[in-house]
Amino acid sequence: MRKFLLSFAVICAVFVANSTAQKVELTVDTSKPGAKIDRNIFGQFAEHLGYGVYEGIWVGKDSKIPNTRGIRNDVINALKAIKVPNVRWPGGCFADEYHWRKGIGAKRVVTLNPNWGGVIEPNTFGTHEFLDFINQIDSEPYLSVNVGSGTPQEAAEWLEYLTTDQPTDLAKERAANGHPTPYKIPYLGIGNESWDCGGNMTAETYLGEFKKYSRFVRDFNPVQQKDNQMLKIAVGPGGGDPRFMEWTEVMMKGWKNHTWSWDMQGLSLHNYTVINWADKHKSVGFGEKEYAEILKETLKMDDLINKHSAIMDKYDPQKKIALVVDEWGAWYAPLPGSNPGFLVQQNSQRDAVLAALNINIFARNADRVRMANIAQMINVLQAMIMTDKEKMVLTPTYYVFKMYVPFQESTFIPVKFDAGNYTYNGVTLPRVDAIAAKGKDGKLWLEITNVDPNQKAEVEINLSGTTAKSAVGETLTAPKVDSVNSFDKPNTVVPKPISAKVTNGKLILNLEPKSVTVVSVE
Ligand code: AHR
Repeated sequence: MRKFLLSFAVICAVFVANSTAQKVELTVDTSKPGAKIDRNIFGQFAEHLGYGVYEGIWVGKDSKIPNTRGIRNDVINALKAIKVPNVRWPGGCFADEYHWRKGIGAKRVVTLNPNWGGVIEPNTFGTHEFLDFINQIDSEPYLSVNVGSGTPQEAAEWLEYLTTDQPTDLAKERAANGHPTPYKIPYLGIGNESWDCGGNMTAETYLGEFKKYSRFVRDFNPVQQKDNQMLKIAVGPGGGDPRFMEWTEVMMKGWKNHTWSWDMQGLSLHNYTVINWADKHKSVGFGEKEYAEILKETLKMDDLINKHSAIMDKYDPQKKIALVVDEWGAWYAPLPGSNPGFLVQQNSQRDAVLAALNINIFARNADRVRMANIAQMINVLQAMIMTDKEKMVLTPTYYVFKMYVPFQESTFIPVKFDAGNYTYNGVTLPRVDAIAAKGKDGKLWLEITNVDPNQKAEVEINLSGTTAKSAVGETLTAPKVDSVNSFDKPNTVVPKPISAKVTNGKLILNLEPKSVTVVSVE
């Protein structure tokens, strides 16, 4: 009997813990606006890797899949809806083996993709196709030029080909290939992970290379030269390895002493959420333990940004150089049966929460982090979209990007809250996360993530100085931490409308466990 009563008590306690909502008071201080949240932090990354470009974007003009000049229409429409500010292309590691001439003109050079599965690279998706894609989704190109196996001359010619309005032979060739007017290339990455797949260089060697590329790879576009300059982004640190502190130090010290003939506008940072590279977490079929572990790991982004920002502040207190987090996201074990070189993984509600936590970290560091690119846009790693021949499905991460659209070009507003911690199996992380911003539309926008996968959060919204009248928006949650959208069941994780209740003159938002919520507050 005693045993029975004890078990009954335990069951009741669990039930009460699960059913009671955690009360959270959240205050938005509208009197102290912070930095602008650059829309470029919502950038994407499309590498020639697996089905990221071929099948994911490019199906070819003769495909039965509805397309516009070879680019699939379903993908275009989905991407337009999340207002993609920029797309980084063609890599990644691929960029340092990419030779642009193989991907232009009527005859494309068929080659290999040694980085990613050693498969055939048909080069049918080249410069013009990429820029057509960019145009179709109303975005901007972020080109990565080849430093590892290329030359400054090769990159300089690519940029002349793309940007000059003078009648040079390269401009005539561009016109003959269908584009008489010069392209605008606002963002240029000089190499990729040059400390590893991009050439295994020391920081000093790379700095020397960067100076040459910065000097000789010119933007000739007359409109762009007048309005704003092409931003040149240098290779920066990757992950939390302490040796990368030195890399940032060398690059920033080098920049501090730059001369009239070279300059740098951005330093990149790559950081994937992986706990053990040799034995990665699964992307589906996991439980609360793995949910907590991965989210704890992803929060290291904050520390990493702070450490590198501190070094940057020493040499650049005016924050002229942007920290560009141009590869971030969860990297899990390849799905069973997939080509391991194609980096195919599922995308679950855990990834939605992970995406929100990272975006909030970027927003809180908006004065320095002015660009970021999630890896990768389609069919690779933490993707927005998955395709299988004519089928397409939107992932939980896609919906997070869609819900955050009002934060593009908004102004950061500080929020205060203390929701305590959520702990599972010795892994502890903040129960709730939140950011606020004044949108371009003049409205006050609030994002609240309830990290706790078991307890609801009852959030009381206070505006310092005034009373909040209403809060309306969307919330994204799912039955389980590893719930996904599949081709058969594409609507398991989709945003639903949410609005706050007014109770005793207070504005209360009831949030489901493991949810991401965006509301506008009146
Ligand atoms: O995104 C996959 C790969 O990860 C990129 O090619 C490389 O830059 C990084 O190591």
